Amino acid sequence: MHKFEGKYAIATGGTDGITKESIICMARDGLSGAIIAGRNEERGIKAAEEIKNLTGCECYYVQTDVSKPEDIVNLFKAAKLKFPTIQILVNGAGVCPSMPIETIDAKEWDRVMNINLRSMHLCILEALKFMKPQKYGKIINVSSVAGRIGGTESSIAYSASKGGMITATKCYAKAYGDYNINVNSICPGAIKTNMIADFTYASAPESLIKKIIPLGRLGKVEDCSGVIEFLASSDSDYITGCSIDVNGGVFMN
Ligand SMILES: NC(=O)c1ccc[n+]([C@@H]2O[C@H](COP(=O)([O-])OP(=O)(O)OC[C@H]3O[C@@H](n4cnc5c(N)ncnc54)[C@H](O)[C@@H]3O)[C@@H](O)[C@H]2O)c1
Repeated sequence: MHKFEGKYAIATGGTDGITKESIICMARDGLSGAIIAGRNEERGIKAAEEIKNLTGCECYYVQTDVSKPEDIVNLFKAAKLKFPTIQILVNGAGVCPSMPIETIDAKEWDRVMNINLRSMHLCILEALKFMKPQKYGKIINVSSVAGRIGGTESSIAYSASKGGMITATKCYAKAYGDYNINVNSICPGAIKTNMIADFTYASAPESLIKKIIPLGRLGKVEDCSGVIEFLASSDSDYITGCSIDVNGGVFMN
């Protein structure tokens, strides 16, 4: 029997990057169904088709702006119509704007928090409606090394949101252990995706990268996807409230 046979997943931000790759990994290991949620319809439909064609997994795209609570409710309603249940939630949607601290007003602060942090909470509230009654669930929050060490001074809202994810992960883990629901996070370092394409370190010379990152290179989506898959699988049944660093050694807990 495949590892994820009979398992159904929802992934926000699943149309791209790290989260999409994690769904592909699970789908290769027999995931029965997945819903990938994101804002861009064209990219979402294409990604769902790609996952289906690559793996045979029943994969759907649901257009979702995770900063809108009503979109999150609709996302889980769609899951209820398509699948018998949901056992896996990957909270992967995120934005990382680069702005000087003193230019971040209330609107921008709330925008980043709502996408990165509040959406995690609202998705978990919806997922619990499936997971509590069945006494089974795997929730993976995609945080960041920035949540550990503060990131750069121009990413304060991002870093604060990601630090919040790490702390909240522990709260959910304590609250829902009795329901056999594991809640963990991963903290990627610099991973080559669209998110960091415009950042200076994404195109830094190899000699500099080697100085900063003990493993001597930027990360790839595959460096994170297997860790997310592990946290979604029964191999991690006795792990909860944990945040796993995937950063090439930049930060060692
Ligand atoms: N790439 C890195 O270096 C890195 C490092 C640490 C953490 N992360 C985290 O990993 C996660 C995945 O990022 P990635 O690197 O794969 O980048 P990515 O840009 O490929 O993926 C981010 C996804 O979030 C989606 N998203 C953004 N705002 C949204 C909204 N309002 N509603 C719905 N979806 C929205 C984007 O459309 C995209 O699909 C993010 O949470 C990010 O913060 C990335």
